[in-house]
Amino acid sequence: MSVIINIKDLSKSYQVHQKEPGFIGSIQGLFNRRYKTITAVDNISLSIQTGELVGFIGPNGAGKTTTLKMLSGLLYPTSGTATVMDYTPWQRKRDFLKNFSLVMGQKAQLWWDLPLYDSLLLQRDIYEIDKSVFRSSLQELTELLDLDKFLKVQVRKLSLGQRMRGELAAALVYHPQVLLLDEPTIGLDIVVQKKVRKFIKQYQQKYNATIILTSHYLDDVRELARRLVIIDHGRIAYDGSTENLIKQHVDHRRIVLTFFQPVAKTALLPYGQIIKYQPLHTILHVPRNQTTKRAAQLLTKFPVEDISIDEPSLENVVRELFTNQNYA
Ligand SMILES: Nc1ncnc2c1ncn2[C@@H]1O[C@H](COP(=O)(O)OP(=O)(O)O)[C@@H](O)[C@H]1O
Ligand SMILES: [Mg+2]
Repeated sequence: MSVIINIKDLSKSYQVHQKEPGFIGSIQGLFNRRYKTITAVDNISLSIQTGELVGFIGPNGAGKTTTLKMLSGLLYPTSGTATVMDYTPWQRKRDFLKNFSLVMGQKAQLWWDLPLYDSLLLQRDIYEIDKSVFRSSLQELTELLDLDKFLKVQVRKLSLGQRMRGELAAALVYHPQVLLLDEPTIGLDIVVQKKVRKFIKQYQQKYNATIILTSHYLDDVRELARRLVIIDHGRIAYDGSTENLIKQHVDHRRIVLTFFQPVAKTALLPYGQIIKYQPLHTILHVPRNQTTKRAAQLLTKFPVEDISIDEPSLENVVRELFTNQNYA
């Protein structure tokens, strides 16, 4: 295995124009523009091996799309370096583009007025795909993505799920080695989500493609990615196996409490590790074999309105990682 994506100390800041509120503010803004700097990606380093499928997750605004745009060469970094297949993405070299693809769930890349099939023909010409290779590739994608019924339909008339499958076909018809998927399942119903997920898995296994996948749906990540990179406020909060992240928590259970009167944090300390604290709502981590005892104690000691005991799931673990920073 060899490193195919190498990111070193990569940062991206945006300058955003800050307007004072109201009409006077607009006038003042004409003469005296004020700027604010937003650090979207803050000094990240990562290296990804050929054939890896990495789940890239984090809350809204964490810096995922900005990172993927830099790796695609759509944005220049403010500082730092990145190489993808030995190319510097923002130089947009032809051989880089020919082996690379970015799919964005929230942004259509197909031609709206053309049928999907014509968009695919355009891809064939742009990427100089050999005719017979194109034919077999198209046949394969049609089968895997079930494109048959709408290949000849104008893209603007497709449902979101059909369009997404079309986007994937256009992105993969030239068999890129590196594929970045930014929320490819966003807004899709569960059946189509599953279909897309299955397709990504099949494609990755067949072509040993290197894939970075961002998704709001942790099911996507849990099923597809053995490695997880979690980003928050532009920084990497976790980089390791998906399994380990969950394992770290399996010997514990979560007691989720709602109180009808405020409870002080210090009063709760003896009962477990406080994962989230609000005076009326708290989550405690408790060793598995003590869960029942602690729950009983909490019930007698505090004004408990509601109590539940959860197993750690990827969903919970990730949510805790973020609430930790926001609340504790
Ligand atoms: N073009 C832009 N101009 C100014 N700020 C931006 C721009 N794009 C993104 N941002 C800001 O950068 C941060 C990271 O955004 P983004 O990379 O889109 O996060 P994510 O994809 O994880 O939701 C956010 O605070 C967002 O508001
Ligand atoms: Mg995004």
